[in-house]
Amino acid sequence: MSIKISRKTNEIIIKTANTMYVMGIKFGKFPVHLYYGRNGRGVKYEYKSPVTSFSPYFEEHGYDYFPDVAASEFSFFGYGDFRADALRLRDMSTGSDTTMFYYKKARVLKGRVDIPGLPCAEADENTETLELTMVDEVTGCELKLYYTVFADCDVISRYFTLTNRGKNPVKIEKCMMLCLDIDKDDLDMISFHGSHCFERMYTREHVAPGNRSIFSRRGASSHQFNPFFMLCDPKATEERGDAYGFNLVYSGSFLSEVETEQCGKTRVLSGLGSDNFSYLLEPGETFTSPEAVMSYSNRGIGQVSRNMHKFTRNHILPNDRFEKRPVVLNSWEAFWFDIDEDVMTRFAAEAAKVGMDMVVMDDGWFGGRIDDRRGLGDWWPNPDRFKNGLGSFIDNVKKSGVKFGIWIEPEMINPDSQLFKEHPEWAISAPGRELLLSRSQAVLDMANPEVVQYLKDRFEETFGGLSIDYFKWDMNRHLSEVYSPTLPPERQGEVSFRYMKGVYDLLRWLNERFPNAMIETCSGGGGRYDLGMMKYSTQIWTSDNTYPVARTAIQYGSTFGYPATTMSCHVANHGDSVENARQLEYYYRVALNGPLGYEFDILKIGDTAKAAISKQIAEYREYEELILRGELYRLQNPMKDGAYSYYFVNEDNSEILLSYLQAFGDKKEKTNKLKISRAETGATYIDTIGGNTYTGEDLRRGIEVKSDKDGGYARMFHFVKE
Ligand code: GLA
Repeated sequence: MSIKISRKTNEIIIKTANTMYVMGIKFGKFPVHLYYGRNGRGVKYEYKSPVTSFSPYFEEHGYDYFPDVAASEFSFFGYGDFRADALRLRDMSTGSDTTMFYYKKARVLKGRVDIPGLPCAEADENTETLELTMVDEVTGCELKLYYTVFADCDVISRYFTLTNRGKNPVKIEKCMMLCLDIDKDDLDMISFHGSHCFERMYTREHVAPGNRSIFSRRGASSHQFNPFFMLCDPKATEERGDAYGFNLVYSGSFLSEVETEQCGKTRVLSGLGSDNFSYLLEPGETFTSPEAVMSYSNRGIGQVSRNMHKFTRNHILPNDRFEKRPVVLNSWEAFWFDIDEDVMTRFAAEAAKVGMDMVVMDDGWFGGRIDDRRGLGDWWPNPDRFKNGLGSFIDNVKKSGVKFGIWIEPEMINPDSQLFKEHPEWAISAPGRELLLSRSQAVLDMANPEVVQYLKDRFEETFGGLSIDYFKWDMNRHLSEVYSPTLPPERQGEVSFRYMKGVYDLLRWLNERFPNAMIETCSGGGGRYDLGMMKYSTQIWTSDNTYPVARTAIQYGSTFGYPATTMSCHVANHGDSVENARQLEYYYRVALNGPLGYEFDILKIGDTAKAAISKQIAEYREYEELILRGELYRLQNPMKDGAYSYYFVNEDNSEILLSYLQAFGDKKEKTNKLKISRAETGATYIDTIGGNTYTGEDLRRGIEVKSDKDGGYARMFHFVKE
């Protein structure tokens, strides 16, 4: 039992393997937050509502409960709490946006509550959910807060339903599923910002007084801020100290806020925010929020990452159907838009010869798509490029013994397309305003179920009956001028949210319709690298930036919230660099951080490089299980320490794969000590690469790696316990 409701003490206690979360019900009506931290003996917590001036209070409770400073399980707009709010509701009959719900009851459910139309974590036989019902007597709305407990991963998720049981419509004007009041204000925040080609750049800074937010108003979780973020003790390291991690199982616009207040607490909020979201609830209607997740560890930042990795692997990723990942050869950086069926067939044959498993035909195969100005929306093979249709081409490719994958970008439309001629109203635009383009394309109105149905029918016609093993689902622009002619004026605030539901509907359909095809998602590289997408895709294209220097930073940042198994890593060719043995080796070592792939014109590669690639693939197969299923320990930050080093370890510590990646030369040739805390004392390990023997103590004290005076230097150690 992970959840206990004590009627005697008016407390609710949630326990995971290593953490504990406690709330109390103050005065029988205010759910107050009491504790979130380690689980075990000696844990102490108490209710505190410091006396504070200039804060409204309830006459009957006096100074015992100040809405403005009490640690709350959920926070409401405009009723005595001046901090950032989780829920703002407008009563459409009076126009008032003062929001307040009071506790009514709590119960424990086996499993979880489903979130209609949205991705959410899968429950297993141990999953339990706390349901806390609250009511607003004025509007008649009922709020149910859910806490679903994934005890084995030390993860608790948060989501809610709001049902309008009143007589008048209400509008949700701010929606944050996660609200956590931490009883301290001396914390660091770790977040991941960036831009196209520079996703998930790690930043750590002290949380200064005020409100710090990360967000996307782009209709996609975005390159600019990833929804995953952390808070930690300023002294916390990878393996020591208090750390919290937060994320959303959602891929659209979002807002997360960290706010410190006058009495020494920090409020954490995460959800849909209010910029791209409002939602009208007519009497009788229910709104269900997306899911947010949180994890805590007193064993450092790295442990929170590993909790998130385990959670993603066990509860988010589609059932490990594709545990053995294909090593792909992708056509994008080889041919760009110049897809030619004969060349592609030879490309596939060459891929097979070096031991690759699959070729992926990227952009440029459909409609009139000869460049990025036309064709999106016309999802049929370009008749000039496939003389005998797609089916016969795929058969030819497969004769070489490789699998076949194909690129699609379902959510987009070029004004220069057949689809736009037929349905200009399907492109998202604001009434009376010029349509803005980005990469010459507009966004399809996925909030319109007719559009989603059209895409299903279209894909059925083009792909039904073909032997496709893999789809790469791309999304290459963000949503502006968000508006849908299919919704009335008072529901326009719902478009961005309904858009995501449309995307998920199509993704779900694609998974179900082609159960043997794996899906890799992508958004101009890693612009939609989130748990929502991971629910429907096996892996995500990490970034359009395939330069190893940038890749180490991007991959380092990505590992904080997401397991290596989601991080598609390709070796690319930059100006014939793969013909240089040292560079090819370095590119490959950098790519060994997730499912491996290649992305260049193999028909132009020399035999020496091809032989090296064959060896790489064989080696990758040896380590694949450890990379995709092992536990990750980060040792060096490539942006700070001059090298990126990390190791994967299996559950029983008998196999360890240590990587050291140094992008730039180091004239000082310093000695790096790479400490492997998971090595067992008393055990002996053999490095199967270098041939040396080490004791567990040696590894715990640290393997010494001298940095190289030249850049592009990689070392790898594979320790196996004797
Ligand atoms: C995006 C993707 C690339 C490639 C191109 C094709 O940029 O991230 O990998 O598929 O689109 O247009």
